This record gives sequence, C-alpha cells and structure tokens, in this order.
Amino acid sequence: MSRKRIIAGNWKLNKTASETRRFLLTLRNKIAGMDALPEILICPPSVALETAIDAARESGIAIGAQNAYWESTGAFTGEVSTEMLESLGVSHVLIGHSERRALFGESDENVNRKLLKVLSGTLTPIACVGEMLEDREAGRTEEVVVGQVKSALMGVAHEHARRIVLAYEPVWAIGTGLTATPGQANVVHGLIRRSVGAIFDGAVADELRILYGGSAKPDNAAGLMAESDVDGLLVGGASLDADSFAEIIRAAA
Ligand code: PGA
Repeated sequence: MSRKRIIAGNWKLNKTASETRRFLLTLRNKIAGMDALPEILICPPSVALETAIDAARESGIAIGAQNAYWESTGAFTGEVSTEMLESLGVSHVLIGHSERRALFGESDENVNRKLLKVLSGTLTPIACVGEMLEDREAGRTEEVVVGQVKSALMGVAHEHARRIVLAYEPVWAIGTGLTATPGQANVVHGLIRRSVGAIFDGAVADELRILYGGSAKPDNAAGLMAESDVDGLLVGGASLDADSFAEIIRAAA
C-alpha cells in the first residue's frame, strides 16, 4: 500500500499576513525544482488564511486552518465555521491539537463534534491525538491514544472515513526538542492503524495517513518517515523557517 506523504506546517500563533506571504513566496521557489513532492500543507493563523491562499495559488501548497467550530453560524464569539473556511478556499483543518485540548479546554467530545462537522463539508480534517509524559511513564500510552482515536471517530460514517488524516503527537515531544524515536512513533502509529481498522475495515486502515508531530525537524525527518506506519509529519517550530521546512519536504520527496 503506498500512501502519499503529507508534510504539514502548524504555525500556531506565529506570523502576520505579510510574513505569511513572504514565507510562501520563498517556499515556492525552494520547492520548484524538487521531484516527487509530498502533499504540502501550511496552517497559518486564521487572519492570514486569505493571504496564504492567494500567495500559494498554483504552487501545489495547500492551506489549512488550525481550528474550526462545530456550529455554522450564531452567537459564538471568536469562533470560525467550516463553511467560512471552505468559502475562502481552505482545504484542510487541524482538529483537537493538544494545545487546544490543554490550554482551551477541548474535550474528546468537542473533538468528535468538530470532526463530524468537518466531515459534513469538504475540508480534510487532521485529527490530533497523543499521550502526556505521565501517561507514557505509567504505561498508559496505548490506552490514552487509542481512547482518543475511538472517541474522535465516534459516529463517523464509513463513506467519510477515507477523508480523515490522523496525527500522533506525543505531548511530551511538542516544542520540547524531545522527539519520539522512529521506533517509538511507529509502534503507536501501528496501534492507531489497527484501531481504525477495527472501527471501519482493513482497506480504510491501509489508506489512512498517520502523521507524526513533536519536534520534527530536518535532521530527524527522514528517519521518522522511514518507518512503515509514518506517513508524513506535522511540524510546528521547524515549519516557521522556510529553509528548514523545505529541507523536511526534501526528506519526504
Ligand atoms: P513542534 O510542534 O514541531 O514545535 O514540536 C508540533 C505541533 O504541535 O504540531
């Protein structure tokens, strides 16, 4: 089964619209000569999405949002709906990033509602799961990660399952410089793939792209992606610099 790799940049709360434009114009030049590019995705802050879409036009770089709400319209101050993102030309959206869960109180149930809402439209969701250090140290990694996967996917129709991308991001590796070893990542990716197979079927599991995230950078990208169940990377810090992001893309090409 060959799954097309995805290299996604999650910019979090970084870069203005003009910085976004500059980055994308630089990245376009850097990837212009590369062969066999993976899918490339940049997720800037929502106020820079429109600029990003314009700057990435016809470059093969897709633009994603970092979050979306489960209602379409209404009295939900500060939120953005999937319809609004679709109308801008956004193609992907991150769901349930660990920072949303830890800092903004998103529960497994919230993540599930968001995922179902995204799947009712046209965006490609990248749903994030991952254990905390204390979970890992207590030997609860499988229970926590598989539990998050199962609750995120609750009620997802089989016909929608093929659109989902998952990201395994051990919380202890995010922004810390500590990376899961390729072997550690692959073990958890395998657990995730098997649990998705049990929920849907083997074909869905085979096609599912599972990204690794957590201090991914140019010098560990190739090693992580050499693993059989690692289908790309969700990159935070190292996606803010066009040189290092381009190097990670090269490692996936
Ligand atoms: P990091 O972030 O690459 O800076 O660890 C990854 C993420 O949070 O998606």
